[in-house]
Amino acid sequence: MRMSVIGCGYLGAVHAAAMASLGHDVVGIDVDETRIAMLSRGEAPFFEPRLGELLAEGIASGRLRFRTEMADAAGADVHFLAVGTPQLPGGHAADLRFVDAAVDALLPHLRAGDIVAGKSTVPVGTAAALARRIEPAGATLVWNPEFLREGWAVHDTISPDRIVVGVPDGEEGARAADLLRDAYRPAVEAETPFLVTDLATAELVKGAANAFLATKISFINAMAEIADAAGADVALLADALGHDTRIGRRYLGSGIGFGGGCLPKDIRAFAARAEELGRGEAVGFLREVDAINLRRRDRAVQLVIDALDGQLFGRRIAVLGAAFKPFSDDIRDSPALDVAVRLRGLGADVVVTDPAAIDNAAAAHPQLGFARDRDEALRDADAVVIVTEWDEYRRELSPAHAGALVRRRIVVDGRNCLDAAAWRAQGWNYRGMGRR
Ligand code: UGA
Repeated sequence: MRMSVIGCGYLGAVHAAAMASLGHDVVGIDVDETRIAMLSRGEAPFFEPRLGELLAEGIASGRLRFRTEMADAAGADVHFLAVGTPQLPGGHAADLRFVDAAVDALLPHLRAGDIVAGKSTVPVGTAAALARRIEPAGATLVWNPEFLREGWAVHDTISPDRIVVGVPDGEEGARAADLLRDAYRPAVEAETPFLVTDLATAELVKGAANAFLATKISFINAMAEIADAAGADVALLADALGHDTRIGRRYLGSGIGFGGGCLPKDIRAFAARAEELGRGEAVGFLREVDAINLRRRDRAVQLVIDALDGQLFGRRIAVLGAAFKPFSDDIRDSPALDVAVRLRGLGADVVVTDPAAIDNAAAAHPQLGFARDRDEALRDADAVVIVTEWDEYRRELSPAHAGALVRRRIVVDGRNCLDAAAWRAQGWNYRGMGRR
């Protein structure tokens, strides 16, 4: 099948490479020339396992190319819209300017019978409005939300949990659904659930999924607040809750909370859209979810202040992690970096290390100190703060080894990912988040 993927950010670059790996003929379009040049050389513009190899294979096979001109999208049977929908500056709603610009640019190149498949996360109602603009060209708009996680993006695109396709009513919708079934043939043959819905439901599935995941994380972090006050251990609590298959252990990881380019902005945009629909009260709890999440960062900073008896000025603090989660170099709304910036703001001499995100973090926060080498960051530290649970810190850092490098054995575990007993046994003053 011939496909275009419009927008080659996280979602689009991975989608284009993954579709080419399934045997489709794919052109990725983006206005960012530097990015297109990198992708055309088969280089991943961000850290994502397996993406580089898929890009190189696709380009070598001749099935994958990247261009800056929308005219190169002409002739594709399916045009995937994969542009970003960031938070509006000064507001909570989604900024749809890139979606609108992409559709404007695509319109002159559409043929009757083309399918335009939206993948970007958009407020419900966007697809219906776009459909009205596309109809005169004889093309059909469908909504096919993406559920990929950074760090697992290739896997999630090729072997998703489910495929959701929102289509218009009637024959035209049925034909579009069949075409998308063909596009995702290997997953469909592997009996991946393929759900055909109306446009609005498909848009809502994505927003609701992220709202649920954020709520689950904030739920356990709210329990961490209670555990702290009651002298209980939230990590054990999560294990015990997770054995109930109705609840499940995933996304009950407590600590400094969620960040990244999706969950925080998506719950805000979801609530903003609900307000517009006159149903703000239905998702009023999302404001609490957001507030609980942001309080976690305050709590982590407070734990460091308490551990250092209120004396942060001139104290050297090793911050292990900058990315918003492991297996990513993404620092968008990273709770890890936020904690580092606040400690710096309180006068501490902060040294941040991260296996993948140092360059991005240094560009955004030049006021922080950085060390590429973990042990260099730990050397002479008055306190160690773990804020991204990379294996390099969680599994591979022994308390004895770290103890030999630091000035004082104080560790704040912002991801509740360390074996507290093992660290305490080596003389560390261990402080978790909602752990005894
Ligand atoms: C999230 C969703 O998981 C994807 O399904 C969705 O497609 C994507 O957003 C998107 O909208 O594009 P992602 O942002 O890559 O994916 O990250 P997650 O793995 O969900 O983690 C989000 C944040 O939650 C991270 O900061 C992570 O550290 C935190 N988290 C996650 C916790 O604090 N506790 C947990 O138990 C799990």
